[in-house]
Amino acid sequence: ASGMILIFGSINVDLVARVDQIARPGETVLSPGYEVFYGGKGANQAVAAARSAPSGTSVSMCGAVGKDTFGDGCRANFATEGVDASLLQVVDAPTGCAFISVDARGENAITVASGANYALDAGKVDPKALNDVRVAVLQMEVPLVENLRIARRLRSTEAIVILNFAPARADLPGDELGELLGLIDYLVVNEHEASTLHDALPRSHVDDSTLAEHLRVSVIVTLGAKGVELHAPEQEVWRCDAGSVEVIDTTGAGDTFVGILASGLDADWPIRASIKRAAVGASLSCTKLGAQAAMPLLVDLNETSDVWAV
Ligand code: RIB
Ligand code: NA
Repeated sequence: ASGMILIFGSINVDLVARVDQIARPGETVLSPGYEVFYGGKGANQAVAAARSAPSGTSVSMCGAVGKDTFGDGCRANFATEGVDASLLQVVDAPTGCAFISVDARGENAITVASGANYALDAGKVDPKALNDVRVAVLQMEVPLVENLRIARRLRSTEAIVILNFAPARADLPGDELGELLGLIDYLVVNEHEASTLHDALPRSHVDDSTLAEHLRVSVIVTLGAKGVELHAPEQEVWRCDAGSVEVIDTTGAGDTFVGILASGLDADWPIRASIKRAAVGASLSCTKLGAQAAMPLLVDLNETSDVWAV
């Protein structure tokens, strides 16, 4: 049966400028203006999960914001989107802010000023809230040690744990990363994140055998326009296509995928159907500027059910 979806992770405000070409080091490029959106990988995943949840599942966002207008705006956005914000932590640091350039092909370059996200404290999460979690989702815009602490706490629950290794980080202690991977059920990565992760892991964790076989984790590799691959332990690699759309902005496509995947698994849908539905949703999310602007609603996904239904 479905339970609560817990998203543990980052919350940002995104300042987005469209450019012809993304500036190289030492270069200045001009943009006619900018737009402000609610973002952050965790928050985006929470919104995607809430919009796509098949039946009244509650989606709870556990992240940290500052005592500032950006933080107030993020909280109001969760209310608008039906995301429970009772696990938000208000800390003494500015709310996270992402500076995003989007080029003419819809590709982006992002700098995240982490601020409050780096003060998120897994120890403060109410134990009662954790007992109800059916699916928990983590990403890499908060300290690795906080992800590890929440994953350790989730071990004694029934929760399915998804780790999205985004953004890819090469600077992480391999032993902590290895422990975290041992505590999760699904790893979601794009090709770049997959190779960064392999490089960061100690040899004792991943030698020549694949991550799936070694850590008993199902690895989902998102390949952009080329679709998605699932490497599950003791199974042949399975692959599905991505829907074809006119791409305006790919920012948040990965987050949309992860959030919809979480709501599918929460509803006890088979992994392949959950992946296909998430892939459709991720392509739709690329059709407007802003991470959350074109994220589909449940009705939009239901209209495409011929593609993903089992
Ligand atoms: O994945 C997209 C997100 O990454 C943006 O919303 C931005 O906040 C960055 O964190
Ligand atoms: Na978008």
